[in-house]
Amino acid sequence: MSLKVGILTSGGDCQALNATMRGLAKTLYNQVKDVEIYGFIDGYKGLMYENYKKMKPKDFSGIINQGGTILGSSRCPFKKMRVIEDGFDKVKAMKKTYKKLELDALAVLGGNGSLKSAYMLAQEGLNVIGLPKTIDNDTYGTDYTFGFQSAIDIATRYIDEIHTTAQSHHRVFVVEVMGHRVGHITLQAGLATGCEIILLPEIPYDINVVVNKIKQRQKSGKNFTVIACAEGAISKEDATLSKKKYKAKIAARNGQSVVVEIGKAIQEALPDAEVRTSVIGHAQRGGSPDAYDRSISTRFGIEGARLIMNRSYGRLVVLRQGEVGSIPLEDTAGKLKYVDPAGRPVRNAKLMGVTFGDE
Ligand code: F6P
Repeated sequence: MSLKVGILTSGGDCQALNATMRGLAKTLYNQVKDVEIYGFIDGYKGLMYENYKKMKPKDFSGIINQGGTILGSSRCPFKKMRVIEDGFDKVKAMKKTYKKLELDALAVLGGNGSLKSAYMLAQEGLNVIGLPKTIDNDTYGTDYTFGFQSAIDIATRYIDEIHTTAQSHHRVFVVEVMGHRVGHITLQAGLATGCEIILLPEIPYDINVVVNKIKQRQKSGKNFTVIACAEGAISKEDATLSKKKYKAKIAARNGQSVVVEIGKAIQEALPDAEVRTSVIGHAQRGGSPDAYDRSISTRFGIEGARLIMNRSYGRLVVLRQGEVGSIPLEDTAGKLKYVDPAGRPVRNAKLMGVTFGDE
């Protein structure tokens, strides 16, 4: 058997992109006598502008523990994929590059937007497989996306550190964790650090509930509070706004984090408290993948290679109930996996006194 395979990493990066590519490439080199792998530089842009590198087996060695991506990444929003800009037809260009290189398959390591584009290319007749990448763990159809656990670990360490200083100075801290549409990282890191207030995009909060919880903690002798707050946390009032009005409100923040707004509201309600805010930011996507991510992404990569060798295209590698397998790209494209406000993790946390600001 001979195979020519393209690989690209698209969208916001995360830990274990390299480990996933390594798993896929090593399996192909090992199992297929005659295999050529082409790495596209900076995601879909490389495919559009014929910017690629013919990879060698040694390119995939020694990278299991390296963060970032050896291929580079960029954001190419799905909604712009079919928009012709300055006479440049992106979809046509990507198909041209694929055909010119006579690829048998293209492996896309991407999150939701990138997987939507992968499905679009599959509909256009290319042989595409997807690998679920994102720290947010919000890809529909898989229990896990690589990068998630490493991001939780970083957020957990950060919030732990905030806890010690919050405790020393008897302060209230509102800490922003990544996730503008989903709160999986915030929920897990919040629980792992013992936060009693966790604010998620899926559960609109009432600032009075948040303030009352702080007061309740003070009354019980806990004179500090750390709040784990997702980037996309939203108040009950804002949740009633139209999409357009809410977008305008976010734009008016001028890039300032939601924690600033929440911190101010808490300070107004509790003038005697010392309120501080802190944003973890992109460190959550950086550095080495942890052991779990290295191992699961290797399994994902092997499954990706298996799909390609079996010529089973148009599929996304997934983890379901501990087993690595695959689902049609069609089943995931355009859908998000949210934290379920009525799900067991949230209900359990509430049982032990955690508030999500809703009640
Ligand atoms: O999708 C991953 C993610 O890190 C989100 O959690 C975050 O909202 C976003 O990317 C940040 O994007 P950017 O890299 O464009 O700042």
